[in-house]
Amino acid sequence: MCARKIAEEAEGNKIVVEKSTVPVRAAESITHILSANTRHGVSFQVLSNPEFLAEGTAIENLLNPDRVLIGGEESAEGDEAVAQLTWIYNHWVPSERIITTSTWSSELSKLASNAFLAQRVSSINAISAVCEATGADVSQVATAVGRDSRIGSKFLQASVGFGGSCFQKDLLNLVYIAECLNLPEVAMYWQQVTDMNEYQRTRFAKRIVECLFNTVSGKTLAVFGFAFKKNTGDTRESPAIYVCSHLLEEGAQLNIYDPKVECKQIELDLTSAAVTDNPDRVRKLIDIYTDPYDAVKDAHAIVVLTEWDEFTGYDYKKMLSVMKKPAFVFDGRKILDHQALIKIGFHTETIGKRFSRNTLLRSSGADI
Ligand SMILES: NC(=O)c1ccc[n+]([C@@H]2O[C@H](COP(=O)([O-])OP(=O)(O)OC[C@H]3O[C@@H](n4cnc5c(N)ncnc54)[C@H](O)[C@@H]3O)[C@@H](O)[C@H]2O)c1
Repeated sequence: MCARKIAEEAEGNKIVVEKSTVPVRAAESITHILSANTRHGVSFQVLSNPEFLAEGTAIENLLNPDRVLIGGEESAEGDEAVAQLTWIYNHWVPSERIITTSTWSSELSKLASNAFLAQRVSSINAISAVCEATGADVSQVATAVGRDSRIGSKFLQASVGFGGSCFQKDLLNLVYIAECLNLPEVAMYWQQVTDMNEYQRTRFAKRIVECLFNTVSGKTLAVFGFAFKKNTGDTRESPAIYVCSHLLEEGAQLNIYDPKVECKQIELDLTSAAVTDNPDRVRKLIDIYTDPYDAVKDAHAIVVLTEWDEFTGYDYKKMLSVMKKPAFVFDGRKILDHQALIKIGFHTETIGKRFSRNTLLRSSGADI
């Protein structure tokens, strides 16, 4: 529709820049639509210039990008269009950071970049399950692995899972393309990255139920964080939706607090047809709070699902005093001071690490 509108309105020679993440070969489809509707004296060049901005750091990413990718048709006209867009970026981006490729390579590089990032998260999350089973600590493993300069230390934070509007969509896009190209092994490989993400969310939710003496029915859990990552109110594909849905399915009462996500959005996410067939029951089981200290009153546990900085600064001793005992903390983002929480009397669980039973019993003052 957008391409048709451009064809209708454009005059003279125009460069159309495709910036949003699109299925590979979208530039080709745009070119077809434009050329089928071209009027006399009008010509088009379609460039692929994928967006690499992440939410919360968009301006920084724009001003100081790792790289700018520009893909164009392999022809003299295509080269000319690429040169024009390069000239614009050159006003603030050094030439060595501008990569020019064919249109297809550019489109596929965008999908591949997000797939590789998601794969790193799923890889460390897979290792976190092994850590919990063996007594290793995933943070120590991530540090050791990341010190290899070939691997690098970024994007190795184990968690309850990745979310956001891009990773899942781009992975599934890649899976779809591989299937269409009759490459089932490739499709299965990338599908596994998203399957591992789903496994991690479910595993965390099941661990909460297991630790709370195998049932959360009728128990109150305070959920800290609903956004897919800190410093945003965006909940798209947030692991919180899936963890909360699992707990609600098990009959838990959830007191949810997020510094930025709107109440309406939380209710919408948890009552959508994608996660429940009984929205009225869910509405009765959730309460949304604007103060975390109110959310923990009479709760059996605190469940951390987003890595908001403010969560690390709370007075957990004060929170413990108004909670049901034994009180639990489940840190799905590995941001809290676990030893301090154990010391004040919380039973503490986190991703990729098991605290010894003795430590827990000692912290609660029990004889061992
Ligand atoms: N958000 C957008 O609007 C947008 C638009 C176009 C393109 N993109 C592209 O999509 C990518 C993803 O963007 P995003 O906004 O979803 O943000 P992001 O890359 O910061 O976060 C995506 C996911 O990765 C997780 N994550 C972040 N840092 C991590 C770490 N160190 N270790 C483990 N997991 C970590 C986050 O919790 C989140 O679930 C960007 O890199 C960009 O290339 C984003």
